[in-house]
Amino acid sequence: MASRSIDTHAAFFKPYLRPGINLLDCGCGPGTIALGLAKAIAPGTLTGIDREASQIRIAAESAFTQGVSNANFLEGNIYALPFCDNSFDAIFSHALFEHLQEPAQALRELWRVLKPGGIVGLRSPDWGGFLIAPSTPELEKAFSYYKWLQQQNSGNPYVGRELRALVRESGFINIKASASYQCYEPLSEATEYLALLIEASAKVDGTVKKGWTDERSLTAMSRALGEWSQHPDGFFAQAWCEVVGWKG
Ligand SMILES: C[S@@+](CC[C@H](N)C(=O)[O-])C[C@H]1O[C@@H](n2cnc3c(N)ncnc32)[C@H](O)[C@@H]1O
Repeated sequence: MASRSIDTHAAFFKPYLRPGINLLDCGCGPGTIALGLAKAIAPGTLTGIDREASQIRIAAESAFTQGVSNANFLEGNIYALPFCDNSFDAIFSHALFEHLQEPAQALRELWRVLKPGGIVGLRSPDWGGFLIAPSTPELEKAFSYYKWLQQQNSGNPYVGRELRALVRESGFINIKASASYQCYEPLSEATEYLALLIEASAKVDGTVKKGWTDERSLTAMSRALGEWSQHPDGFFAQAWCEVVGWKG
């Protein structure tokens, strides 16, 4: 997440930003994209919310270090945003909807805090479109396990393809969908994160205790990711789905 920026991850949304607007970034994480958004809309205000206090701290510190004075970061949940109706000209959310159990409910809340005529922009991966090479059974197992883990946590690894329908069914109009691929160079940018999540799942998700897997399998998947990241021909391209829509 630390290497993400407005240009690499929010290019689909950038053309709709104007100086002076009020913009909300939901699930802003460490704020690397949010700070780029803030610069694009200055002197307007960027508000970043995330339910994790640690992410909010990192984002606020980065804003301070980079001298970005038009960005505020606060703890908040997308299902119950701490804002009045019709507060924002635009709302952005990146890599959050795949983690949500109730995406339609989240969109109702975005609709509430968005001004009439305002724009919403969402971007999420779709694990059905990932390209990996060279593949091995252990590597396939690691990817399947990660997808399964996201589903166990009430997320949806295939939400990318559903974003258009979700936004339309929530009442937004003039919807435009697009998609793009991110190629991880070096591969370790992705594999280290995946290996960490897989190894931590024993503790965080209790997967070993619940008998869903065992430590040996977790180590084997993590090792496969590590070996793949060193492979001279290792290739990993991630599919991202994007959608914009307006509150009429
Ligand atoms: C994969 S990160 C994406 C961070 C950032 N948008 C990016 O793309 O770099 C997803 C973020 O959403 C946050 N999150 C998850 N569920 C949330 C919720 N219900 N409300 C607000 N934030 C949430 C997580 O804490 C995490 O920081």
